[in-house]
Amino acid sequence: MGLIAPFNLPLELDALRALPSVHRVVRHLSDMKRIYHDQEAVAAILSAGDPPIYEFLELANPTSDDSLSFGLTRISPGKIGREYHMTKGHFHLNAGDEIYVGLAGRGLLVLQSRDGQGRELSMLPGSLCYVVTGWAHRTVNVGEDDLVFLSVWSATVEHDYETIDRHGFPQLVLADAGRVAVIRNERFTGR
Ligand code: F6R
Ligand code: MN
Repeated sequence: MGLIAPFNLPLELDALRALPSVHRVVRHLSDMKRIYHDQEAVAAILSAGDPPIYEFLELANPTSDDSLSFGLTRISPGKIGREYHMTKGHFHLNAGDEIYVGLAGRGLLVLQSRDGQGRELSMLPGSLCYVVTGWAHRTVNVGEDDLVFLSVWSATVEHDYETIDRHGFPQLVLADAGRVAVIRNERFTGR
């Protein structure tokens, strides 16, 4: 089903949750346990429950190849071991840039080029990050509150999660003596 008329809506989680055409995904720790660095911490948390890590509200009903898809993501604050809560992350398989706009909270947009170079961009309320085709992207909540952001991408984009599942990202975002540290991921196997 496509979006057949112009529309507007408030950029609020509740407003999007209420739309019948919105696809809501909640990812729990068990859905993404392999991507966290500290597997002992993962096992300890999962033995007591399965916390939700992030919620993604997606409006992706293209009428044509020229359509845009968009969504709101909310990542709860917290850490798995020393590693901050984050999204799974993905490459876009085909051409398609993406815009991220910070709405609430403090985040890092973690990027990886096809040849395994890492980069990080700060995400703050009212700031925009432009993701160029070819860079995998993952969002990390490095703050004490929910991180909420808008993302807008071409409706023709196909998402590749598998490469990240297999190889990871070249960098880890950890708490180090109360500060946010980006360090090399020794287990990264991409290039
Ligand atoms: C779409 C996009 C974002 C993410 C969302 C959830 O191309 O980059 O809307 O899909 O932040 O993260 P993932 O998709 O990595 O689970
Ligand atoms: Mn994307």
